[in-house]
Amino acid sequence: MLYYWVKTLHVSTVVFTIGFFALRFFWMLYNPGLVRKKWVRYLSVLNDTLLLGAGITLAIILHQYPLQSPWLTAKLIALLVYILLGMHALRLGKSKKSRTISALLALLTVGYIVLVALKRSPLL
Ligand code: HEM
Repeated sequence: MLYYWVKTLHVSTVVFTIGFFALRFFWMLYNPGLVRKKWVRYLSVLNDTLLLGAGITLAIILHQYPLQSPWLTAKLIALLVYILLGMHALRLGKSKKSRTISALLALLTVGYIVLVALKRSPLL
């Protein structure tokens, strides 16, 4: 039962993080002031903290740990890449073109993370 609720939380926060990232990227292009609003940043941090917390809880329940489970190791490395690309796309990129490239790569990376989670294999 706990597994069910935690997995529901994990998957819901995954859907939210992808949708909210795409929305923030859209705002960055057409209404940059919104991306810098405090509530936007707090909502994103709150969701991603829940996502990470639920992921760690699932790993503990399933006794699957990074380094021991290759798919989880791949997920965490890809998560780091996703975070860095996301930061470049929303804040650090010098031009809209480079930000757009980073945003597309970030979406591809998060797509890879989802596939790795579904297949429980880093090689897809
Ligand atoms: C952006 C980051 C992440 C995405 C997109 C993501 C995506 C997913 C998805 C879609 C599932 C459901 C798979 C299924 O229905 O079988 C899942 C399950 C899971 N995730 Fe994540 N996840 C992320 C981060 C993490 C993190 C950081 C951890 C651990 C530290 C983690 C650990 C797990 C575990 C243990 C499962 C359960 C797998 C199973 O029940 O078969 N995830 N993840």
